[in-house]
Amino acid sequence: MRRHLPDVEATNALATDLLGHLPRDIAGWTVLLEGDLGAGKSTFARALITAMGHTGIVPSPTYTLVEPYQLAEYNIYHIDLYRVSDEEELRYLGWNELEDGLRLVEWPDRAPGLAAAADLRVRLDYAGAARDAEIVGLSPRGRTVVNAIV
Ligand SMILES: Nc1ncnc2c1ncn2[C@@H]1O[C@H](COP(=O)(O)OP(=O)(O)OP(=O)(O)O)[C@@H](O)[C@H]1O
Ligand SMILES: [Mg+2]
Repeated sequence: MRRHLPDVEATNALATDLLGHLPRDIAGWTVLLEGDLGAGKSTFARALITAMGHTGIVPSPTYTLVEPYQLAEYNIYHIDLYRVSDEEELRYLGWNELEDGLRLVEWPDRAPGLAAAADLRVRLDYAGAARDAEIVGLSPRGRTVVNAIV
């Protein structure tokens, strides 16, 4: 599905719509956030993490690589692979131990093998001062979610 996002409020609304179609148990789900520098990946991540019940700031994981959130209803791992150069480093950051929550991954192209194991791809592109979003289901359960979003 595609949606034009004129402003950050529209990004927030899209994240809320997506959450409305995700299952209550999102353990083991992987959502890839793609887009150029400044395309709005972190804005979308912040919107989703906030919609999932987090209050307060959502710091960029650029240096920590992983920012964990233990919320009342969800575990989330916000991951930024910008500084990662190969899949080997995923093991180093403990990727396999993050199975108990939602993995929300910025710069997933740094580890090309990730797409095969992911559920959703959220692609953000510049549209002048606004953005265009595309959400694609990568797994059967991911496609079910995307088909349900209007
Ligand atoms: N839908 C939108 N419409 C207009 N501006 C937006 C939208 N979404 C995000 N922005 C703006 O784009 C800028 C960059 O956003 P953000 O930091 O989320 O991008 P990013 O893709 O995470 O960047 P990076 O590649 O550096 O991690 C911010 O100033 C943000 O407010
Ligand atoms: Mg970012």
